[in-house]
Amino acid sequence: MKPLIAPSVLAADFANLQRDVEMINQSQADWLHIDIMDGMFVPNISFGIPVCAAIHRHAQKPLDVHLMIEQPDRYLKAFKDAGAAHIAVHIEACPHLHRVIGRIKDLGCKAGVAVNPHTPVSLLQDVLMDIDLVNLMSVNPGFGGQKFIPHTYEKVRQLRRMIDERGLDVLIEIDGGVNEETAPLLLEAGANVLVAGSFVFNATNPPRVIAELKALGNLA
Ligand code: DX5
Ligand code: ZN
Repeated sequence: MKPLIAPSVLAADFANLQRDVEMINQSQADWLHIDIMDGMFVPNISFGIPVCAAIHRHAQKPLDVHLMIEQPDRYLKAFKDAGAAHIAVHIEACPHLHRVIGRIKDLGCKAGVAVNPHTPVSLLQDVLMDIDLVNLMSVNPGFGGQKFIPHTYEKVRQLRRMIDERGLDVLIEIDGGVNEETAPLLLEAGANVLVAGSFVFNATNPPRVIAELKALGNLA
């Protein structure tokens, strides 16, 4: 199966967001990955609801919203109204994760759970049947352009086994440090969705990089 490619707008030129969103529209990308950071759950602040809504006005592909915020349940409806097709919350930020997942689905969005590098994927076993996507963080969340953590490969394999054993249809999305070296190994380990920020936007030809990531599926 071809991987789904989700360029991360965090690495776009914020003074030329419409131009960069239109580049993604014209490319082979499947989704736009939207990183929301609150300066509390993670040490950085990215952008918020109005910017997400502005991106949505120009985007022709689903918005894959990754909430790196505390108490994300307070903002689910706001992000749905700002155009989110998928909403991922962090397991580490949700003492009542099952309830939050239910609320995301009641809003009509696909539900995702994001896990930090130190969080075992085994903690997902009692919600796996309720979600559409796992965002496996392959860097510590908060910044683009960080170095990929190699232990992620083992986590992908473990999560792939958990999903397959249960006969589920949950997507494994990898977030952080995706590039030409890590992407093929991640797909081989069983990942389905590649988020890529700096690898796409720092390239001289971003649409070509997106096409190359998409073409990796031809090898599998
Ligand atoms: C990190 C974000 C990522 C980030 C990835 O906290 O969740 O989505 O944009 O950036 P790269 O691809 O540059 O590692
Ligand atoms: Zn992200």
